[in-house]
Amino acid sequence: MRRPLIAGNWKMNLKRDEAVDLARGVGAAAGDGEVDVLVCPTFVHLDSVFSAVSDSKVAVGGQDVYFEGNGAFTGETSTEMLKDLGCEFVILGHSERRNVIGECDKLINQKLHAALAAGLKPILCVGELLEERESGKTMEVVQSQMDGSLEGVSADQMAEVVVAYEPVWAIGTGKTASPEQAQEVHADLRTLLATRYNQEVADGVRILYGGSVKPANAAELMACPDIDGALVGGAALKADSFAAIIEAAGA
Ligand code: PGA
Repeated sequence: MRRPLIAGNWKMNLKRDEAVDLARGVGAAAGDGEVDVLVCPTFVHLDSVFSAVSDSKVAVGGQDVYFEGNGAFTGETSTEMLKDLGCEFVILGHSERRNVIGECDKLINQKLHAALAAGLKPILCVGELLEERESGKTMEVVQSQMDGSLEGVSADQMAEVVVAYEPVWAIGTGKTASPEQAQEVHADLRTLLATRYNQEVADGVRILYGGSVKPANAAELMACPDIDGALVGGAALKADSFAAIIEAAGA
């Protein structure tokens, strides 16, 4: 039985006081129910957010990490720094990093190995552009992102990996994949994991959906058999809407 995970990706939003207020609100909403709850603030707020959720079950994660251990890498953050603060998860290969910053699967793969070696759980994001969906290439694209990003990752290591399917055309656009569209890709991703690894890995890996998840559509998405939670952007920036999504995942 896969435990649902609801993760808030706060992206480059919120000043410190706002981040702390939101973290407290999420802490109050998370309870200790059947849903794992995670928030991923910008690096500069990680410490403040940790303090704000310290008496709750809310986990905190990074939005990215670099693969080198330490040294002359201006602007980057290491896995050890995230672990030292207490981070449990790290988002990797988000479509904004792939398409805005220009990250490729090879770099994401290096980051993923570094995260696993440090004991961080990577949330690996994959997803197709609108033109790729419209030309029938969705599975080809996500399969190649999965294969490239997961190269050299063992079946045992996959127990620590979370996958997030985020169609790029649905991120921040208000357009959500229908539950049928999302379920179809999630099921294909699970089949891919069974082919590349084995059925146990496929059955165990949590696959989150992301892309304009909100209180109004969360329940029908979460009801799909292969959707194990959500990676939430915009609706994670308000405690009440994030709380409603957590509730939908636990229903
Ligand atoms: P959104 O973002 O919920 O605002 O579409 C999701 C994401 O980018 O992870």
